[in-house]
Amino acid sequence: PKKMSTTRMKAMKAKGEPISMMTAYDYPSAKLAEEAGVDVILVGDSLGNVVAGHESTLPVTLDDMIYHTKAVTRAVTVPLVVSDMPFMTYHGSIDATLAGVGRLMREGLAKAVKLEGGAEIAPTVEAIVKAGVPVMGHIGLTPQSVYQIGGYKVQGKNSASARKLLDDAKALEQAGAFAVVLELVTDELSQQITKELAIPTIGIGAGPHCDGQVLVFHDLLQYASPVVPKKFVKTYANIGDAIRNGIAQYVKEVKSRSFPAQEHTFHADLEIAGHLYG
Ligand code: KIV
Ligand code: NA
Repeated sequence: PKKMSTTRMKAMKAKGEPISMMTAYDYPSAKLAEEAGVDVILVGDSLGNVVAGHESTLPVTLDDMIYHTKAVTRAVTVPLVVSDMPFMTYHGSIDATLAGVGRLMREGLAKAVKLEGGAEIAPTVEAIVKAGVPVMGHIGLTPQSVYQIGGYKVQGKNSASARKLLDDAKALEQAGAFAVVLELVTDELSQQITKELAIPTIGIGAGPHCDGQVLVFHDLLQYASPVVPKKFVKTYANIGDAIRNGIAQYVKEVKSRSFPAQEHTFHADLEIAGHLYG
């Protein structure tokens, strides 16, 4: 398969070909994602929740993102790897922002970065794009602002907030973003935004009319995701149960001394055994 690129994603939108995106945070999950045909891998700062066990994405650092992005980019060749800029790493000076983006690209080997926010971060998006780095936007429910928003609530339900989100999406496109994630917004709004933008929309909890969909690895595979079940998630496997059952069997066999068996056991050469015990 051909390598995924930001230009190919725009072409997919033009052709009406859906874009599949999923998060991955380490080498094995990224490798499996590539083998399964995922178009875009997001090293999401949701790793703060699903990997590190925090209650939000706020504690995630740029160093965390670089570490996980390195592991993911070592594993894949075809999918486009997009990496999240974490909380408060793109709200100071443009110089500081570009330094962080530079580290994610140079050390993590990401191919693009994702930033949360709309019109208010458009100048920042423009500066990053001018520096040659593709930017994915992210509007709607933006988890880095969860304490300002006041919870994980559906966005754009009334006409004023829908209007604002449409303007935000357009501002991001204008600033040079190559795609935009729509998180927890109504079907009506995501349909409107998808129609009015030339760049692809990638939905999560945003209905079926986006140009692509994204889900969190741990959610779609039921990998002990600490968050309560969400209406917008469909689970396609239950690897949490598979892992728990496997580990429980291992523990049982250690306790009953049925593991290790002879086939897992090494023996000395006869002469050495003779020397040791003879
Ligand atoms: O961090 C993440 O997983 C995300 C997706 C939910 C879009 O930002
Ligand atoms: Na994120």
